[in-house]
Amino acid sequence: MYTKEQTQVLQLLTSKVLKDAASVDQLRDVLRFHEFRYYILNDPLISDVEYDTLYKSLEKLETENPELITDDSPTQRIGSSLNKDFVTVAHLVPMLSLDNSYNSQDLVDWDKRVRGLVSSSNIEYSAEPKFDGASISLIYENDKLTRGATRGDGIAGDDVTTNIRQIGSVPLFAKFSDYGIDKIEIRGEVLMTKENFKKYNLLLASEGIPPLANPRNAAAGSLRMKDPASVRKRRLEAILYHVSFVSLNEKKIKGAELLKTHAGSLELLTSLGFKTPFNDKRVFSSIEEVVSFCEEFEVRRDTLPYEIDGMVIKVNSVEYQQQTGSTTHHPRWAIAYKFKARQASSKLLKVEFQVGRTGSVTPVAKIEPVQIGGVTVTSISLFNADVVAEKDLRIGDTVLVERAGDVIPYIVKPLSELRTGKEKKIIFPENCPVCYDPLVKPEGEAIWRCININCEAQVVERIIHFVSKDAMDIRSLGEANIRKFYKLGLLKNIPGIYTLDYKEVSKLEGFGEKSMNNLKSAIDRSKAQSLNRLIFGLGIRYVGETTAKVLGKSVESILDLANFSLEELQELKDIGDKVSESIFEFFQNADNIAIIKTLASAGINIKGDKKEASTGTLSGKTFLFTGTLPTLKRGDAEKLAEENGGKLLSSVSNNLNYLVAGDSAGSKLEKAMKLKTIQIINEQDFLNMIQP
Ligand code: IVH
Repeated sequence: MYTKEQTQVLQLLTSKVLKDAASVDQLRDVLRFHEFRYYILNDPLISDVEYDTLYKSLEKLETENPELITDDSPTQRIGSSLNKDFVTVAHLVPMLSLDNSYNSQDLVDWDKRVRGLVSSSNIEYSAEPKFDGASISLIYENDKLTRGATRGDGIAGDDVTTNIRQIGSVPLFAKFSDYGIDKIEIRGEVLMTKENFKKYNLLLASEGIPPLANPRNAAAGSLRMKDPASVRKRRLEAILYHVSFVSLNEKKIKGAELLKTHAGSLELLTSLGFKTPFNDKRVFSSIEEVVSFCEEFEVRRDTLPYEIDGMVIKVNSVEYQQQTGSTTHHPRWAIAYKFKARQASSKLLKVEFQVGRTGSVTPVAKIEPVQIGGVTVTSISLFNADVVAEKDLRIGDTVLVERAGDVIPYIVKPLSELRTGKEKKIIFPENCPVCYDPLVKPEGEAIWRCININCEAQVVERIIHFVSKDAMDIRSLGEANIRKFYKLGLLKNIPGIYTLDYKEVSKLEGFGEKSMNNLKSAIDRSKAQSLNRLIFGLGIRYVGETTAKVLGKSVESILDLANFSLEELQELKDIGDKVSESIFEFFQNADNIAIIKTLASAGINIKGDKKEASTGTLSGKTFLFTGTLPTLKRGDAEKLAEENGGKLLSSVSNNLNYLVAGDSAGSKLEKAMKLKTIQIINEQDFLNMIQP
């Protein structure tokens, strides 16, 4: 897309526009270049802070000169308004599906059929991954993205342009005109990478929301979301793999040449800044080579950043594609080679209800053991009562189970046509299956809970979480031992780990001298773990590792957290209302404080990483920076404040001493003006405070 020289020029321009005033066009060129480096190459050349600075400069210029705003400006991705009902739009060319093949013989047969339809025996095939996401169609007119649509029924789909604009790797502007292209329709797939999928599910889990089943559903569901901002949060990607319609003008020569082949079309799209399978595809002149390539790819399948469910083989020459034509369902010039299924059917034997460490009651399906992708699956979480009801699952059902790569297995659906009438309804218990206390379902939540914090199941799960790898990491005290010790009355709660009666333990089977030494030293070692691990290990609701780290850095001792007001907690980085309330509640509870004190007296580290109150000139003072400062970058100004002993706050409150306001300071300035106690200063005032 960008040559080495262009990259150098744009990098120079970047430094220039970061320092001096720049034109709208310069800022847009530079921002588009950095979007490309970030979203397409995954190789950014500037920091997020620098990107934000550039973005804000463009935003400012556009706010001051609204006549300069264009639809394809990098500032125009983020739609603020919600999607209304999606309008149905006809595709320029029907979006057909692909015929499937499952083995080498199927491909050999297809090759024969193609050869029977094409005028030449010199046929090239291009093979590439078959992406497992949601298909989309994009239209660009006069270099601008004018429409994005879902597949729908293949003839017409939903207009989801606003949501597609949230996907960073979809260019809003691409110089098709350089190739003599006035209008083009492109096909592709919207995906979520496996890594982002996992992160997103962790986020959902921390909010008590059941996880999404797989990256495909995550992508497909995203396209039809009402709120574009939520689409953005899902960090989707789009890979484009087919040009379905093109209108060329008199300058057509350059584009026409590339568009003669599929590989050329991918090259053209790649050169314009799209993500495509250009680097993964290979062109072959025999079907045997195609078969080996597909087989090799299947082996590598799990090493790719996203899910693929097979390969797609296409006749490379567009002229020959036209000679083969299409049926009403699929083109004859392309075929999917499907990888081995990651789905299998099995019988739902029973549903057990498990109580988690926060008391959540999760239905777990026990199924007849079934092999999927080399793993035997016997147990599958059903998340909550709503999921069970939605899928209309019944005991005795034959169910379709899917397990993709490292995604946890899930039940896709019951095969209701195989029902005999003997299947039984799944009845959700009204009482905790462990302590028998009545279950409650808090307002607005999908999960039933046992609220007896002394419920045996919760206590055991809390201990298991406390010793887990990302918490205190006491490996020799695994789940099985904890359950055993608890049953025998040797371990009753978290502090009990540090007063374990080793003499009694050593009498148990499997606890010879060596394992005893391992156990003792692992428990001893854990005493020195950093505070963030202890905080995470305490299992405070909504407090994941990231929040635990923030808390660990904000205090000198964990006990200081008991003195934090709700407001002070909310001022900490990235801690929202729900999380701060949960932390506040936890530290106001005397039982929890008693546990922490017992741990401390057993020698567990409770010291945080808060830098000693600095002796700097800003010591004891709190700061918040807003707007564009005349000389300092936001990040640098914040660093200066901290280096001089100041504390940064993330919102305006009575605890704020100084609001350093630059240009275009918005709501924070307004709020600070209302709260009379805050001093509003400019960059120079701030610099004067730290100058000797
Ligand atoms: S080509 C007219 N290439 O798979 C043929 N399709 O199961 C255009 N798909 O509807 C499609 N990866 O949504 C093509 N590399 C790829 C693909 C791909 C995934 C999807 C596409 C298609 C479906 C058929």
